[in-house]
Order: sequence, then structure tokens, then C-alpha cells
Amino acid sequence: MVNDTPSDTSSSALSAGKQNIPRHVAIIMDGNGRWAEKRNQPRIMGHRAGVEAVRGVVEGCAKGGIEVLTLFAFSSENWRRPKQEVGLLMELFMTALGREVKRLHKNNVRLRVVGDIKGFNKALQKRIAEAQVLTQNNTGLTVVVAANYGGRWDITQAAKSLAIQVQAGQLNVDDITPERMADGMCLADLPEPDLFIRTGGESRISNFLLWQLAYTEFYFSDILWPDFNIDALNDAIASFATRQRRFGRTGQQVEQNNKVCETEC
Ligand code: IPE
Ligand code: IPE
Ligand code: MG
Repeated sequence: MVNDTPSDTSSSALSAGKQNIPRHVAIIMDGNGRWAEKRNQPRIMGHRAGVEAVRGVVEGCAKGGIEVLTLFAFSSENWRRPKQEVGLLMELFMTALGREVKRLHKNNVRLRVVGDIKGFNKALQKRIAEAQVLTQNNTGLTVVVAANYGGRWDITQAAKSLAIQVQAGQLNVDDITPERMADGMCLADLPEPDLFIRTGGESRISNFLLWQLAYTEFYFSDILWPDFNIDALNDAIASFATRQRRFGRTGQQVEQNNKVCETEC
């Protein structure tokens, strides 16, 4: 695992100022089930504890000046889990949305839910819509919850919308560009994720933001999601701050550009 930065909350990256702070953090919140199993508890207890961890991380991001936090809550593949776990997760979404939205609104957080929402029952769809409407004009942290989301689904949606335009004679095939594809995908209006975090010890993407993570910095943590707190978030952000993002250029070019920026930007 890549936990390469020692925990030092006294000089935490989030509180140290804006330098090298990611604008957009995207998290696969993994390890709830194992957290509960370790305690001989049913897996749902891990999911409940996971909601508490979300609260802490949202607060940390809001205070730290992060603009967007995207959280993977339920993948398009998670329907494959035992019926009972899926049912309890849906109930938890309902209660958590009902309970947390007022607090989020009070804290000026804008909530967005992305994914194939039509896959959820009507009551949950309604609650999601209400939460988005209530918070849509808030100007603080944007929290994006990816629910019934899959990266392949997202890319397919974008491809379909371009195909429809071509079929209608509104778009030429030659005018299809990566930018147009990106426009048809979730999060198109937000900055791309700068930092990706996966908790729970696995080193995979599990069909999360396949397109959007093209140039994101990756950080894998062994911490199980319910134990992931502001200190752990700070460690991830401190690691991010040490990375040199080259976007295909050489390290020398990046350094040169930074020097020019220091004097002219
Ligand atoms: C992530 O935790 C939450 C969801 C996928 C809903 P898991 O439930 O996958 O936890 P582990 O990986 O089994 O420990
Ligand atoms: C990814 O975790 C999905 C969420 C955290 C919502 P999983 O636990 O479903 O991923 P896999 O199955 O281990 O790859
Ligand atoms: Mg898991």
C-alpha cells in the first residue's frame, strides 16, 4: 500500500493553506463490511459506521477549502450482493439522506447524486430529487454521491447521446472529440478529480470514474472506511501535495513552467 506520508496533524496539509490542495477529491469508501465482521457484527453496522465517517470527511473537506468531494456509495455491480444487504443499504440511504440533508444545507453544501437513479425505488428517487433541489444554490463544498454508478455506464451514456445527435443529423462523426464525450458524462461541469482515495486495502478502481480519473493522483489506504477520519484525509492530501503532475510533459518542463508562473502568473 502507498501510505507514504507520516501522519502529522500539527502541520496538516488541510490547515496549512491552499497550496497544493486538490480542488476535487474522489473516494471509494471501501471496507465497511470487514470493519463490522472484525467486530462480529452484521455488515450493515459497518455501513452505518461508514455514514459517520462520511460526516467527518465532508466536514474536513468543507473546512479545508476543497471544492468538490465525490463519494462512491453504491456501484452498479453492488446489486450482486445478498438481497438482504442491498435492501438494508437502500434503507440506510433513505434514512441518511433524510437525516443529513438539513445539516448539509445548513453548512452551505451542494449535494448532487450521479448514477442510474432510475434503478432505485420511487421513494428514494424522490428523496434524492428533493435533496438536490434544496441544496442546489449553495455555494460551499459540492458533495457528489455516486449511487448505482458505473464508469462503463457513464461512458456508454455519453456515447449514446452523441450517437443520437449523429442519427438526427445534428453532429458529424468527425466532430466527435474527447471533449464532446466528456460533455456527455457525469461531473462534466466540475473540475476533474485531482486526488483519488480508496480505503480498505484494495488497489483497484472497481468501475468508478473510469474516464474522469485519467490524470488523477491515486492514493490507496489500508484503513477501513469507518475508521477513515480527518487525520487520514490529511495524510492523503499531504501525499498529494508532494506529487509532481506532468500531464505528459517532462519534469523539467513542469519546473520551468512553475518558475515562470511564480513571477508572472
Ligand atoms: C463499501 O464497503 C460500501 C459499499 C460497497 C456499499 P464494503 O461493503 O464493500 O466493505 P468490504 O469491502 O466488504 O469490507
Ligand atoms: C466499490 O467497492 C464500490 C463502493 C465502495 C461503493 P466494492 O467493495 O464493491 O468493490 P470490489 O467488489 O471489492 O471491487
Ligand atoms: Mg468492498
